[in-house]
Formats: sequence, structure tokens, C-alpha cells
Amino acid sequence: MSLEVILEAENLAKMYKRGRSEVVRALEGVNVKMYAAELILLYGPSGSGKSTMLNLLSGLDNPTEGTIKFMGEDISEFSEKKLTTFRRENVGFVFQDWKLIPNLNAYENVEAPMYPSNMPSNELRTEAISTLRELDLLDREHHFPGELSGGEQQRVAIARAIMKKPKIIFADEPTGNLDKTTGNLIMRVLKRVCRQGTTVIVATHNEELKDYADKIIYLDDGKMISQSQ
Ligand SMILES: Nc1ncnc2c1ncn2[C@@H]1O[C@H](COP(=O)(O)OP(=O)(O)OP(=O)(O)O)[C@@H](O)[C@H]1O
Ligand SMILES: [Mg+2]
Repeated sequence: MSLEVILEAENLAKMYKRGRSEVVRALEGVNVKMYAAELILLYGPSGSGKSTMLNLLSGLDNPTEGTIKFMGEDISEFSEKKLTTFRRENVGFVFQDWKLIPNLNAYENVEAPMYPSNMPSNELRTEAISTLRELDLLDREHHFPGELSGGEQQRVAIARAIMKKPKIIFADEPTGNLDKTTGNLIMRVLKRVCRQGTTVIVATHNEELKDYADKIIYLDDGKMISQSQ
């Protein structure tokens, strides 16, 4: 495994205010380094802080305390513009609500994030088709999201996230609500992408995904209780 540090969190914490006086400590005291070509599982029960941690690491939300460095640069110091570029160029998201574009078909949803691109359009097409094939979606190419099952939409979202070969993929319960076979297919694809250099960070409470992980971060009640290599 490469030892290039891609993401580093130091003393990361997120507090939410609930009502007038209650403070929810959704995450606290997290210190972690994530390397290139590493598949990291954020593992813990519901409410333990997994999604909160993904949102902070991806710059979608700001920490209450602590810093996050992407390849050595503190993302809290990024301007809005730099943050947008960071996400567009380096990050793939697979979130629970897949946010496919409803008036684009499966193929177009996968290809859309590639624009603007320096790649010739025939190469883009070849890449999109091979990604759809890998996720067993080739016969759904022309279907719009409204014509796809939940699991198919989830796989389109994964195809879209891996198309641009990002530095990091953030996936929140990527196998949630899926049958075992489809869940394993998705994890194998994420593992393949990871072996080609992408850091893949998966939040889950599904114990079966542990076999795919290079590193498991155990969260409980907002705290990192342990880390396994
Ligand atoms: N916007 C918010 N305002 C107040 N509290 C919040 C907010 N978002 C999350 N929380 C609280 O922070 C804690 C961690 O939530 P988080 O969504 O990170 O959990 P999770 O581990 O992803 O859970 P799940 O497995 O159910 O998705 C929970 O107690 C939750 O109620
Ligand atoms: Mg969650």
C-alpha cells in the first residue's frame, strides 16, 4: 500500500445545538490518517457519528473543532470556489439519497460529471459503458431514474462516482437496502477502484463489509473507540 497521506483529521469534533440549551456531541476527538489506495470503514451503530464524520471529511459541513487536511492542505482555509473545485476534481460521493438527475437517463447520469472534459467523447462513452457493464447495468442504459429500481439507482450513483477516478470516494451505506449479491458486487467494484489508487471511505453498520476493509474505524456515541489496520 502506498504511504501517501490523502486525508488527515486532527482533534475533529462536531457539536449540534438541539433546542435552546441542549448540545449534541455528534463527534469528538477524532484523529486519523487515511492513505492512498486504502479502503476505510467507518463502523458503528445508528447515531454513532458516521455520516457526520463523512460530511466533515468531505467538506460538506464545517467542524466545530479540529482540522482536516487534504494532501497537506487545510480544507477549512479553502475559499468556496476552491472547495467546489476540490469536490469536482478529487471527490466522488455515494450518498443515501442518490441525487441522480431525473431527466437524464442512466448513461447520461454517469457521463454528466465528466464535463467539461479533455477526454474525446468516444473515449468518454467507452469508459461510461464499461463502468455501467461492471455494475451490471448495461441493459438499463436508456432508463431514467424514475424507471430504475432503488438498487439500480444506487449502482448508477456508484458508476457516476467512480467514472472520474477521484482521489477519494465517500460512500454512506452504499449497500444499504440491497440484497447480498448486489451489495458484494458494489464492494468488489469499490475495492477495485481502491486498488487503482483511490481512497475509499465507507460508512456502514453492516458487519459483513469488514472483510473488504484495509482499516476499520469504530465509532460509538461520537467517539472513535478504536482503529484496526
Ligand atoms: N443537524 C443535526 N442537528 C442535531 N443533531 C444532529 C444533526 N445531525 C446529526 N445529529 C445527531 O448526531 C448524532 C450522529 O448522527 P449521524 O447522522 O452522524 O449518525 P450515523 O452514525 O450516521 O447514524 P445512521 O447509521 O443512523 O445513519 C446523532 O445523535 C444525531 O441525532
Ligand atoms: Mg448515517
